[in-house]
Amino acid sequence: MRQSSLVVVANRLPIDDSTAPDGACEWRRRPGGLVTALHSLLRQAPATWVGWAGGTGPAPTLPDVDGVRMHTVPLTVDDLRDHYEGFANATLWPLYHDAVEQPEHHRRWWEAYQRINQRFAAATADVAETGAVVWVQDYHLQLVPGLLRALRPDLRIGFFLHVAFPPPELFMQLPRRAELLRGILGADLVGFQRAQAAHNFAQLAVRVLGLPATDRQIVVDDRVVRIGSFPVSIDSAEMAALANRADVADRANRLRRDLGSPEQVILSVDRMDYTKGIEQRLKAYSELISDGHVKVRDTVLVQVAVPSRERVGQYQILRERVEREVGRINGEFGRVGEPAIHYLTRPFDRAELAALYRVADVMAVTPLRDGMNLVAKEYVAARVDDTGALLLSEFAGAGAELSQAYLVNPHDLEGLKQGLLAALRARPDHVRKRMRAMRAHLRKHDIHAWARSYLAALDDNGSLLSRLGTTR
Ligand code: ADP
Ligand code: F6P
Repeated sequence: MRQSSLVVVANRLPIDDSTAPDGACEWRRRPGGLVTALHSLLRQAPATWVGWAGGTGPAPTLPDVDGVRMHTVPLTVDDLRDHYEGFANATLWPLYHDAVEQPEHHRRWWEAYQRINQRFAAATADVAETGAVVWVQDYHLQLVPGLLRALRPDLRIGFFLHVAFPPPELFMQLPRRAELLRGILGADLVGFQRAQAAHNFAQLAVRVLGLPATDRQIVVDDRVVRIGSFPVSIDSAEMAALANRADVADRANRLRRDLGSPEQVILSVDRMDYTKGIEQRLKAYSELISDGHVKVRDTVLVQVAVPSRERVGQYQILRERVEREVGRINGEFGRVGEPAIHYLTRPFDRAELAALYRVADVMAVTPLRDGMNLVAKEYVAARVDDTGALLLSEFAGAGAELSQAYLVNPHDLEGLKQGLLAALRARPDHVRKRMRAMRAHLRKHDIHAWARSYLAALDDNGSLLSRLGTTR
C-alpha cells in the first residue's frame, strides 16, 4: 500500500463517474463547495484523498488526479441509504442548517454512520505515513478523528466543518450528541467557518461533556484540542484568469444575445437544496414583476439549480415545488421567446460558469443558512472589470466577510424585494466601489491563505507547509 504524508479524508472524491454518450466511463470534477476548495490546494502536494466515488458496490480503482492519489472507500446500497442519504443528509444536514426542514432520527441511520466512519478511519490508517498530517472534512465524518486517533496515535489530525454548526439548543436534540462531540474532539485542531460556530462547539463541550473549554481550546483527557474559525475561500486568481479569457468573454457576449440582449441579467447558481432559499427568491422576483417594478422584457433571471441528493424525500419535494413555481411564473409573465426565468439544471464546466458570472449584472445568493457559499466568492472573483452587484444573504458565511455586498435577510420577503431592487438600480460608481473592495478582499483571502492558516495551526513545526509550497 502506497502511503502519503498528507491525507485528505472527505465523503466524496473530487471526481465523479459521468458515463459518456458512447458508453465510455469518464471522470469529471463534481459541483460542490468542498471539492472546489480543496482541488486547487492538493494540486500542489503529493497527497492522498480518501473518499467515496459515488455509486454502490466494489470500490473502483481510479487514476491519480493532478498528482493526487485517489483512495476509494466502497458503499453498499444500504450504506448509501442509511449513512449518506439518512444520517448525513436527513438528520445532520437539516439540523445544522437551523432545522429549516425537520431532521429525522432513526437508530439504523446512526448505526450506519458509525460503521461508515469506522471504514473511513481504517482506510485512512492504511494510507497515512508515520507521523502524517490527516485532514478530515465535514459533517459526514465527525467520528473519524476519534476513531483514527485510537488506531494511529502517531498522526496529526485536523477536522474542518464546511457547513454551519448550530446553536447548542439545536445540537442538543441529537440523540447521540455526546458521541458526536467526542468523535470530533479526537482531532488536534477543529476548524469552523465562523467564530460563532467555534463558540457554539465550546459551549456544547462544557454542557454535554463537562470539559473545560474556551472559544480557542478544549481540554480532553489531558490533551489540548484547539478550535477556531478559518473561513474557506476559492482560487480567486484562477477564477479571474478564466473570466479574462477571450473565449469566455465571447461566450458571455453570445449568452447575452441568446437571452434576448436584456438591459439587466440576474443570476443565481445553487445546488437544488432547501437551504439555498430558491423558493423565497422566486417569490420575491415574481412579486417584483407583478408589482410592476421589474419588466420581463428588460430584465431576465437565470436560475441554475443542479439537482442534488435526489433520492432524499425533502429534495424531491423541493425540486417539484421549484419547477412548478418556475412554470407558473413563466406561464404568467413570459412571452413567446421571452421567458421571465431561464431555468437550467445541468452541471457546467468552469469556463461556462465564468461566462455566466460575466454576464450577470446582479448575482442573487440568498440562502436561508449556508456555511460559506463559494458561488458568491466566485462571482466576485470573476468580475474583473469591477462591475456587478452581489445580493447576499446575512445567513451565509460569506455575508460576514463580503460586507460591501447588498446584504439581505432572505426570510423577509419585503426586504428581499427591496434588496434586489437596490442591486438592480444601484448607481454604477457605487457598484464599482463595492465590487473593487470585495475583489481586493478575495485576492488576499483566497484558498491558499485558507489552507496556509489552517495547516500552519495544525502543523506546529511547519514542515508540511514548506513541502506543500503554500507559503507563497
Ligand atoms: P455547496 O457546498 O452547498 O454546494 P457552495 O456555493 O459553497 O455550495 O459551492 C458550490 C460549488 O459548486 C461552487 O464551486 C459552484 O461553482 C459549483 N456549482 C454549483 N452549481 C454548479 C453547476 N450547475 N455546474 C458546475 N458547478 C456548479
Ligand atoms: O458543503 C457541504 C457539502 O456536503 C459538501 O461536502 C459538498 O461539496 C456539497 O455539499 C455537495 O453535496 P453532496 O456531496 O451531497 O453532493
